[in-house]
Amino acid sequence: MSAPIDTHSVGPRPSSIAPSRTTRIRSPTEERGESVVTTDQFGVTGQTAIVTGSSSGIGRAIVERFAADGASVVVTSRDRENVEPVAQAINERADEEASEGESGRAIAVECDVTDRAAVEALREATIEEFGSVDMLVNNAGASFVADFEDISPNGWKTIVDINLHGTYHCTQVIGEGMREAGGGRIVNIASVAGQRGSTGMSPYSAAKAAVINFTTSLAANWAEEGIWANCIAPGLVATEGVRSQMGVEEGAGTIDRAEANRRIGRPGEIADVTQFLASPASSYLNGETITVKGVPRLGE
Ligand SMILES: NC(=O)c1ccc[n+]([C@@H]2O[C@H](COP(=O)([O-])OP(=O)(O)OC[C@H]3O[C@@H](n4cnc5c(N)ncnc54)[C@H](OP(=O)(O)O)[C@@H]3O)[C@@H](O)[C@H]2O)c1
Repeated sequence: MSAPIDTHSVGPRPSSIAPSRTTRIRSPTEERGESVVTTDQFGVTGQTAIVTGSSSGIGRAIVERFAADGASVVVTSRDRENVEPVAQAINERADEEASEGESGRAIAVECDVTDRAAVEALREATIEEFGSVDMLVNNAGASFVADFEDISPNGWKTIVDINLHGTYHCTQVIGEGMREAGGGRIVNIASVAGQRGSTGMSPYSAAKAAVINFTTSLAANWAEEGIWANCIAPGLVATEGVRSQMGVEEGAGTIDRAEANRRIGRPGEIADVTQFLASPASSYLNGETITVKGVPRLGE
């Protein structure tokens, strides 16, 4: 009977095959000349982004995140007084870190996304300040809660105008500059309401469903021009909009990111996924909608 093999007793491996402590084995990724620094491809450094509706909530979290990662950002909403302080805070941070050159700078531009001329002026202001637009986040949105039978033609039109037609105007106008420049990234912010419907927010749900479907068409239309178009469908996120429109009082500050069993999120958690979709890390993802809503509701 032969002795059992003890792998610790066979002595040192010949130096020709044993990796020394100082010799790194090249991974297949390195062999192909691709980066192995695992966070590089998630970055948006040096890019320019327009984020609509970035005076508060999710949009604000996105411009702050992009700028912190070194992108130039355009903070924009209907009211200049709302966007100025957000841009100012970003620029103060950039000034503080000027020696490291890590944070991007911001400009504030007033733009109602339902106003085509204002969207054209937004594009011009961005090109004039930063030279190009690489990323567009169609985030501006609004809703109100009412039974369908009580919704007036004006109420219906207002919600569809902001959520759907605003996305159309911004994508067509700002996307033109991206196409001329050879490509870019578009991220549309829809909602789980656009995937499964909702009681009390029928025009909003219909508009967000259209945004989800539009994202797929857009990706197919503009892929040859180097444009990625993807969509996020958030569940409940603790923002001012949710507090005022739906009466949900939970603040983002009270939500623990480490908690898996959750049905409400923080704006920063949507910003994380937006950055992924705006970055080279999502290069093989186009025309898709990512649902970001915490734990699934089974059987409800
Ligand atoms: N929070 C959630 O639970 C949740 C869930 C699913 C989807 N979403 C979507 O996420 C996006 C952001 O929502 P949020 O909760 O962060 O809302 P929010 O806190 O109410 O912020 C909405 C932003 O849109 C701007 N805005 C509204 N109408 C506009 C218009 N016509 N033109 C330009 N800007 C306009 C507002 O700025 P001004 O008032 O300064 O114009 C504000 O910056 C929306 O598309 C929303 O539908 C949110």
